Amino acid sequence: MNVLSLFDLSASQIKHVLELAGAIKVHPAGYQSSLKGRSIAMLFEKPSLRTRVSFEVGIHQLGGQAIYLDAQMVEPGQRETEEDIARNLACWTQGIVARVFKHDTLKQLTASKIPVINALCDQHHPCQSLADILTIQERYPVDLRVVDILYLGEGNNVCQSLMVGAAALDLKLTVITPPQFGPNQDFMAQLNAQYPHHKVVVGTDLNAVEHADVVYTDTWLSMGDTRSEQETLAAFSPYQVNQALVERLQATTVLHCLPAHRNHEVTDEVLDGPLSSVLQQAENRLYVQKALLHMIYQELGA
Ligand code: CP
Ligand code: NVA
Repeated sequence: MNVLSLFDLSASQIKHVLELAGAIKVHPAGYQSSLKGRSIAMLFEKPSLRTRVSFEVGIHQLGGQAIYLDAQMVEPGQRETEEDIARNLACWTQGIVARVFKHDTLKQLTASKIPVINALCDQHHPCQSLADILTIQERYPVDLRVVDILYLGEGNNVCQSLMVGAAALDLKLTVITPPQFGPNQDFMAQLNAQYPHHKVVVGTDLNAVEHADVVYTDTWLSMGDTRSEQETLAAFSPYQVNQALVERLQATTVLHCLPAHRNHEVTDEVLDGPLSSVLQQAENRLYVQKALLHMIYQELGA
C-alpha cells in the first residue's frame, strides 16, 4: 500500500496507527524486528530535520535499514525519470519514503510495487498530522471529539493533512487563514466527498472564534513557496499566535510542526511557554511513523 496522504488510510486504519503508536512508545522492545531484513530508501528533495531523523531512527529501531538519498545526487526527472528511479529502488529496497516538491512526483514513484510514504509534499504531510493527533490525544485523555482545535495560518500541506485526520476521526477543527490563502479547492472537494459529515470549518475571521483548546500554527511561507516576505507579512501578521490570542481563546495547548519562524507565526513567549507541546509533537513523529511502518510491513504484509 501507499500513503501519499491520509486519504489513503481508512478512518479505522488511522485510529489503529495512533493506538499502535501509543503501544510502541510504551513497549518499543516488542517491535524490534518489524522491518528485519528490509531496507527503505529515503528520497528527499527538500531540507528536513525531524522527518529525516525520526524516520532513520525509527527504521533502525524496527530492525531495518534506511538509505538516505539526497535528490541533488539522484536528480529525479533530470538524470532519470521518477518512474525509473522507483523501479530501480525496488530491485534492492522494500519501500520509499519521499519528501518532494510536487504531489505528482509521489504518484510517479508508485510505478514500482513497493510502498511509497509521503514525507511531505506541496499538498500533504500525513506523518505530521498523525503525530499531531497523537499529541492532542495525550494532552486530552478524553473523547477527542469534544476538543476544540484551531489551525491558524496558511491552508498548506500541514493544514490539509490535519483536516483529513480531523475529518476521519470526527474531530472539531476550525481552520482560519487570510483571504486567498485557504486550502486548495480540489482538496476541499476530495475531503467533502470522502467525509461528507466532517466537522472541519474553514474561514478567515479570527475575531469570530471565541474559544479553542488547541491552537496550531505553521510557517507562513513553506519550502518552495516563492511569495515575497513583504506580501506574506502583510497578509498573515493578523493571524499570529501570541499571548493575547491564547489568553482570549482560553487555549490550553499550542502546537507547531516546526521549524518555527519565531515572532512571525508564533511569538517566543508562546512557543517557549507552558502551553507549548511542540517537542512532544516532534518526539511523537517517531512513534507514529514506526506504527505506520509496522502496519504496512507486518500487518498488511508488504
Ligand atoms: N515538521 C517537519 O516535518 O520537520 P522537518 O521539515 O524538519 O522534517
Ligand atoms: N508547511 C511547511 C512544513 C514544514 C515541516 C513547509 O512545507 O515548509
